[in-house]
Amino acid sequence: MCQIESLALTVSIQSQLLSKAWHDNEVHSLSSCASKNRTTVPKLDAAGEQARNQLIASLRHLEQLVLGPKDAMQSLYYRSAEAGVVQALCQLEVPQSVPLEGSISYTDLSTKVGVSEDRLKHLIRNAAVCSNYLRETENGEVAHSPNSSIWQLDPMMANGMEVMLNHLPSSSFKLGEVCTRDPNDEQEKVDGFSLARGAPLFEYLETNPDQGRRFAAHMRAQAAQSGDEAIQECYDWDSVKGKTLVDCGGSFGSVATAIVRKAPGVKCIVQDLPKVINSAIAVTAKNPNFPHDSVSFQAHSFLEPQPIVADLYLFRMVFHNWCDQGARRIIKALLPVLKPGARVIAIEYVMPPIGSAPIYAELATRRLDNVMYSLMKGKVRELEEFKDLFASVDTNLKFKSFRQGELKATHDPKCHSVLEWVYDPEPVVAGEPVVVAEPVAAMTKAEVPSLPVLDVAAVATTQHVDAENEPSTPVLSSPSESSTSSPGVVEVRDAQMAREDKKMADISVQEIRQSPDSPVHLS
Ligand SMILES: C[S@@+](CC[C@H](N)C(=O)[O-])C[C@H]1O[C@@H](n2cnc3c(N)ncnc32)[C@H](O)[C@@H]1O
Repeated sequence: MCQIESLALTVSIQSQLLSKAWHDNEVHSLSSCASKNRTTVPKLDAAGEQARNQLIASLRHLEQLVLGPKDAMQSLYYRSAEAGVVQALCQLEVPQSVPLEGSISYTDLSTKVGVSEDRLKHLIRNAAVCSNYLRETENGEVAHSPNSSIWQLDPMMANGMEVMLNHLPSSSFKLGEVCTRDPNDEQEKVDGFSLARGAPLFEYLETNPDQGRRFAAHMRAQAAQSGDEAIQECYDWDSVKGKTLVDCGGSFGSVATAIVRKAPGVKCIVQDLPKVINSAIAVTAKNPNFPHDSVSFQAHSFLEPQPIVADLYLFRMVFHNWCDQGARRIIKALLPVLKPGARVIAIEYVMPPIGSAPIYAELATRRLDNVMYSLMKGKVRELEEFKDLFASVDTNLKFKSFRQGELKATHDPKCHSVLEWVYDPEPVVAGEPVVVAEPVAAMTKAEVPSLPVLDVAAVATTQHVDAENEPSTPVLSSPSESSTSSPGVVEVRDAQMAREDKKMADISVQEIRQSPDSPVHLS
């Protein structure tokens, strides 16, 4: 039997398994998605999930074989052009102008969106035939297909897709230029997005508020689909009960909320950039179900010296946004406050070494790696790369555990792996000179931060801000008011170093205060 035949046989068997799992879980047929207004496939049991994963990979392989190399490569660039057609239709707000039920004539649609009937016909027919996006009815009108109905049924999800359609193809088509300009990935700001749009992603979003709002909504939608369960089950959160956890880059606190619901008694401080924290406080203040007594917010950039001495520092879906240089700065900013036994946890997609995982899982993760690099110069790291990254900052951060996420063909939070490090400093032998960790290239000696400048109680006072009357102002206590003694930190520094650190801490907090965007007030 030739390869095409054996693959086709596999596809047939996997299709039967999937169909069975599909029907066992919910009474409907594969083709009834549209009539039932579904935008996602129904929940599957393990066997069904596995069949679906394998089917996605087999179909792709089969298509490549059937096309042969020349047509396969042609279809690659045709598909990228087809994405351009869908992007254009979105920009023209065509999917919002087509009713979810029924249809609309080209004449009416043309009037609504301000583009000629002829051009609309070409665009819509291309999208319908090539991307199953919209469709033409028998009487020649435009109606939704299952794919385009997302724009009516789930505007948040559609929003995220538009953000990607708007920026990902143009950014990824700059990769060659990125590599030419920065062959060793040393310049954080030379990335595909910056070359395509003239500014790094987050700067661009700041100056393009509409895109910024869409992006924020996309991030919230992503967080909302995360489901508490994946977070709650991925780590022994009970082991943090009665202790302090800082969720670095924790956005609106959805992860922290899931954690404290699973393990009441964990004290969470969610840190993020000032604008994010501002909004988070305003939004959560209105939510009576938000666990205000255990989750508080603090404006803090994780590139700056960490101000809180905590038991656990959590980074969920943060490191993949950063190249090694930036990721080292983030880890390094923790060092001044790490006490022996402090844990650093990353919850992340982890890249399987090439060829080691099922192809569908590797494909999904490599796609993500490309998205991260194109948009932000980030990367999805292999386990060994993560270990090397942390070790390159401080060998006292000892790698402790790894929990592999589920391997799937599509992304969801169950695919996140958990990596854990523990700060376990080598004992200082009496009489030996004290060795302070060598700053990594991104930081000069003068930048080596900092003493703890906040106490947890001060941060916790931020939680009951009345969003209506008070513009979300996390209150930081000033360095001078805070304890400057941190067990296990100050001891290993000489007095000169400590003075320099203190100066840097003062400056960095001052910078936050002086920033025109900052909602932070120092009392
Ligand atoms: C991919 S999101 C992950 C959000 C959250 N951890 C989660 O898992 O849902 C990355 C987060 O990092 C935040 N971020 C980016 N740069 C930051 C910085 N310099 N300091 C603190 N947070 C930052 C972003 O605002 C965003 O909330």
